[in-house]
Amino acid sequence: MSNIVNRRMTLQRYPDGMPRDDDFAVVEGEVPDIGEGDVLCRAIYLTVDPYIRVHLNPRLAKGYAPLLPIGGVIPGEAVLQVERSRFPGLKEGDFVAGFGGWQDFCALPGASLRKVDPTLGPLSAHLGALGMPGLTAYAGFTRLAEAEPGQTVFVSAALGGVGAVVGQLARERGCRTIGVSSSAEKCRYAVETLGYDLCLDRNQSDFADLVAKACPEKIDVNFENVGGDVFWAALHSMKDYGRMIMCGLVSDYNNDELPSGPDLAPTLIRYIALKRLVMKGLMVADFFNLYPEFQQVVGAMIRDGRFRHKEYIVEGIDNAGRAMIDMMEGRNFGKTVVRITDDPTL
Ligand SMILES: NC(=O)c1ccc[n+]([C@@H]2O[C@H](COP(=O)([O-])OP(=O)(O)OC[C@H]3O[C@@H](n4cnc5c(N)ncnc54)[C@H](OP(=O)(O)O)[C@@H]3O)[C@@H](O)[C@H]2O)c1
Repeated sequence: MSNIVNRRMTLQRYPDGMPRDDDFAVVEGEVPDIGEGDVLCRAIYLTVDPYIRVHLNPRLAKGYAPLLPIGGVIPGEAVLQVERSRFPGLKEGDFVAGFGGWQDFCALPGASLRKVDPTLGPLSAHLGALGMPGLTAYAGFTRLAEAEPGQTVFVSAALGGVGAVVGQLARERGCRTIGVSSSAEKCRYAVETLGYDLCLDRNQSDFADLVAKACPEKIDVNFENVGGDVFWAALHSMKDYGRMIMCGLVSDYNNDELPSGPDLAPTLIRYIALKRLVMKGLMVADFFNLYPEFQQVVGAMIRDGRFRHKEYIVEGIDNAGRAMIDMMEGRNFGKTVVRITDDPTL
């Protein structure tokens, strides 16, 4: 492969707030060699997920999302096809998912790769509804939320990789589902296609009142994906003994500093105590053992048409940075993925 170039999207500087196009740049490199136990893969689809922004934020990056050095390849999961294997369980042509980052080719330990079954659903869905975001939703909803039929489930970022799966699992469970998104068009799609009972536009000036009016019986489960004003509006409308599944806070990922202002801990603690709320932290890594069960359940829903998923597919690695900006500004319509090369299953 000596004459083949590996195009890699790299970080030029840490974004100052919302990322800009020139925070990223494509550089050309060589296709990597592989050692014993490794697999050389070609990327077909790259994911654009909020956690990637955490790797680029010196305030937030640590632990599970370490800070990416300047010049580093943007990290993230990808759906890949095996080009060459020195790992016994994988052969040329197999489809896998792994943390190859935003580049054409990557060399990864075979043991770190997850086999992708293209009969379960489209390859790209293995980065969304059938992948890590979908598993996050499945684990949070089936293992933590304790939602009963007839109860109200509130889902922020309702059309995204996590939210669309939570909303549809809750609908299947017989819950009343209320989504949150950022435009009338997205809210219409959430109701008409994803089957939410209602979807509220977080950009409306009276958003907290809209939430209160939409939940006369209050919220049993808040699946928290965004934080900020949406979180506070949900908190005000929680039912006694409600559960708050703390999944993510995308509204904070572009902040270089914590927002200044009053200490809100007393308000938060008062609400939790008076309403006897339960807040449950969710980390998908605790639930990787659920992959087979989750893919069977959601895969069956996709195949028999009960599950709808929309993807925001951006073409080419050059546009991957722009795709991240679109997602952070809510311009994505569904799960964001970047197509790097022709999908051989289409
Ligand atoms: N705990 C875990 O293990 C785990 C695993 C995976 C994901 N997560 C978290 O789950 C959340 C959703 O992830 P995802 O992959 O499904 O992302 P996503 O929903 O596909 O994309 C992010 C969405 O967040 C909304 N958003 C962006 N900026 C916002 C802001 N300032 N305020 C409110 N909403 C904003 C936008 O949706 P609208 O335009 O529709 O409002 C945007 O489309 C993220 O917080 C992520 O970090 C956690």
